[in-house]
Amino acid sequence: MSPSSPLTLEVLQQKLKEWKGCDLAKNAKPVLGEGNPHAAVMFIGEAPGQKEDELGRPFVGAAGQFLNTLLTSIGLKREDVYISNVVKYRPPENREPEPIEKEQCMPWLMLEIALIKPKVIVPLGRHSLGHFIIDKTITESHGKAFKISEECTIFPIYHPAAALHNGNLRQTLEQDFQALGTFLKTNGYLAPTL
Ligand code: URA
Repeated sequence: MSPSSPLTLEVLQQKLKEWKGCDLAKNAKPVLGEGNPHAAVMFIGEAPGQKEDELGRPFVGAAGQFLNTLLTSIGLKREDVYISNVVKYRPPENREPEPIEKEQCMPWLMLEIALIKPKVIVPLGRHSLGHFIIDKTITESHGKAFKISEECTIFPIYHPAAALHNGNLRQTLEQDFQALGTFLKTNGYLAPTL
């Protein structure tokens, strides 16, 4: 790769493998986002779990299965969207990421966003939400659209893992996805932008 090579998701993937800027990298595999590089919609979770660490891919464990089901419920497949995380390495025992870990990993997410240029960002859960909307909790903002610029809308949704532990949240997530589907359809974003 020459110094003038354009930055692509593949280059980012390669560079992340060499990166040692976060202590979590000592004991975990890098997990960059994956999906359609031209996606109109980008889902952003918290941090990889055990399965994600094993496979080096985001949302491939139980929470990922549920996310796939939710995507299907609004006519989307994983390949239509881009799925990533705030933190690029699994925190030990799946503990919550520390503020410093989120901060250290943030440039990777910003570069992914710059490359994908999503029209709609869906933060999954409060850790992700906090990077896009600082004055609202996930409880008050989930299932609603916040237009933050001419180009981009933030549509927060609870983290799918939360519904695995709390049955009541499952219905909320399902309803929020329907609202997301309606929003995407109304704005012409539901068709995959290949
Ligand atoms: N939870 C997340 O936030 N991200 C994953 O990739 C898996 C589970």
